Amino acid sequence: MPPSAQHQANSRESVSLPQTLEQGVRLSQSRLWQWQRRYYDSQGALAWQQGSVPHYVTSNAFIAEAYAKVVLGYLRDCAATLDPGQPVYLVELGAGVGRFGFHFLGSLQERLARSPLAGLRVQYVLTDFADANVEYYRSHPRLLPLFAAGLLDCAQFDVESTPELSLRHRGVTLSPGGIANPVVFIANYVFDGVPQDAFYVKDGRLHESLVTLRAPGPIADADDPKLIEQVELRYTHEPLTLPYYQDEDWNRILLGYEQRERTGGFLFPCTALACLGRLQKLASDRMLLLSGDKGQHCLDDVCGPEPGLALHGSFSVMVNYHAIGEWVRARGGETLHSGHRQASLSLNAFRLGTNDATELRLAFADHVASGGPDDLFLIKKAVDYRYETLNPEQILALVRLSAFDAKIFWGCVPALRAHIEAGRLDAGLRTDLLAAVDYVLQKYFPIGDEMDLPAAIADLKSALDRPPAKPGPTRGLGHRFGSMRVLPPVPKTPR
Ligand SMILES: C[S@@+](CC[C@H](N)C(=O)[O-])C[C@H]1O[C@@H](n2cnc3c(N)ncnc32)[C@H](O)[C@@H]1O
Repeated sequence: MPPSAQHQANSRESVSLPQTLEQGVRLSQSRLWQWQRRYYDSQGALAWQQGSVPHYVTSNAFIAEAYAKVVLGYLRDCAATLDPGQPVYLVELGAGVGRFGFHFLGSLQERLARSPLAGLRVQYVLTDFADANVEYYRSHPRLLPLFAAGLLDCAQFDVESTPELSLRHRGVTLSPGGIANPVVFIANYVFDGVPQDAFYVKDGRLHESLVTLRAPGPIADADDPKLIEQVELRYTHEPLTLPYYQDEDWNRILLGYEQRERTGGFLFPCTALACLGRLQKLASDRMLLLSGDKGQHCLDDVCGPEPGLALHGSFSVMVNYHAIGEWVRARGGETLHSGHRQASLSLNAFRLGTNDATELRLAFADHVASGGPDDLFLIKKAVDYRYETLNPEQILALVRLSAFDAKIFWGCVPALRAHIEAGRLDAGLRTDLLAAVDYVLQKYFPIGDEMDLPAAIADLKSALDRPPAKPGPTRGLGHRFGSMRVLPPVPKTPR
C-alpha cells in the first residue's frame, strides 16, 4: 500500500476509536498542533479571505509604521558597524498573506530615504511554513514590484525546525554565520500558534499539565482540523522534578516560577525558544526580534488559570513573553516591553548583540509601548460602528492618525458619503479628503476579502463631483473648533 493510502486507512480506523483521542500527553506533543498545521497548510490565503484568522491588529498600516520606526532606530544604533555592501535582512516569520510586510517595507523605505541611512540596502523576507502562503506572495500584484526591485524575497521557514533561509526569488540560501549584518526578525501572532508546554504550580511545587482530548462523538477523520473546534481539552497535573528539559536555561526559568510559589498554571514557549536559538545562530548573535501576540511579559501575570485555547478556525494560546525575556537576558540580551499591560496585543522587542541601543529604546517607548498599536486598536474598537457620529474633520484626523489604514477608512466611507451628500465639505476639506484617499489607496493590500476599497473610493469621488443633494453649513460659515465656536470674520466698523 502506498504511504498516502496507508495514512488514509489509519485515519479511517479512528472511526471506531473511543471518544478519548489522547490522554496524559505533554501539551507540546498533543495532536492539537498537527490539526493546527493541517489547517494552515490546507487553507492558505482562504483563511484570511474568509476572515477566519484574526489579523487586523497585527497587520494594519499603523502597527507596520510603528515597527518601521523602531527598526529605523535599531539601524541607527548599528549604523557604524553595518557592512554597506551587504543588505540588512528583515525576516518575518509566519507572515500569513503578507499584508504586514507590505505595509512595513513601504513605511521603512520611505523613512530610510529621508534619514542619514539613505542608500542602506534592506531586504525583507516574507516567510511561512505553509507553502501556499509563500506562493501567494510570489503572485500578489502589490508585491511583484518589490520582488523585482530586489527589496523583497520569500522563503519557506518552519518555526519548529528550519535552521536557514532559502530565498525563493533570488535562489540563495542564507546559512548560520553567513549573514554579514545584524538581522531583524518579526513574529506577530506566530508564537501563540506553535507548540508550547503547560505547567501548574501548587503547594510550592511544579507540576506538568498533561493533556486529555475527548471528542463528543464518533469522528470520521482523526486528522481533520475541524476537530479543533469540537474536542474537549482537560489537564491533569503531575508533580515533576527538575531537570525537565535538556536545556539548562529552560530549566532555570522553570525553577524561577516554582520558587515564586504562586499557585496557578502557565505556558512555556518551548518552540519559540528553540526557534530563537536557531535564529541567534543564523544571525551570528546580532539580532532584534519584534513580536506581538496575546501574552504576558510581567512575572506577576505568568501564573493564572489553566491555559485555554482561543478558537478561530485555527487556535491560539497566550505567549509567555516573560520566559522569552528571561532566556534573552540570560544571553546578555535586552528586552523591551510596555510599562503597562497591553490589553489586546502584548508588544515586545528582544535584542541580542553588543551594539548601543539608545535609538531603539527611544523609538520603542514612543511608538510601541505607549500610544502604539495596542492603544489605537482599543480606540478603534470604541469608534467602530460610531463613525457616523464623527464630523468630516474628525474622520480625516482619525484616518491620518491610523497611518491611512484601509479598514478604518472603509468603516468611515458611509459617514463620509453622508457628509458629502449633505454638502458638509468645503473646498479645503475636499482637497484633504482627496489627499487622504490617495494615501489609503497606496497602502491598500487586497487579499480577496469583502473589502472592495477601490470601488468604494470611486463611489466617494463621484459623489464629490455631484452637487450636494441638500447643501448644508460648511466650515467656511463658522465651525466648531474644540468646544469653541469659530465665527466668520466680523466686518470692521469705521471708528
Ligand atoms: C495567526 S496567523 C498570523 C499571520 C500574520 N503574522 C498576522 O499577524 O496576521 C499564524 C501564521 O503562522 C503560520 N505558522 C503556523 N505554524 C507555523 C510554523 N510552525 N512555522 C512558521 N509559520 C507557522 C501560519 O501559516 C500563519 O500564517
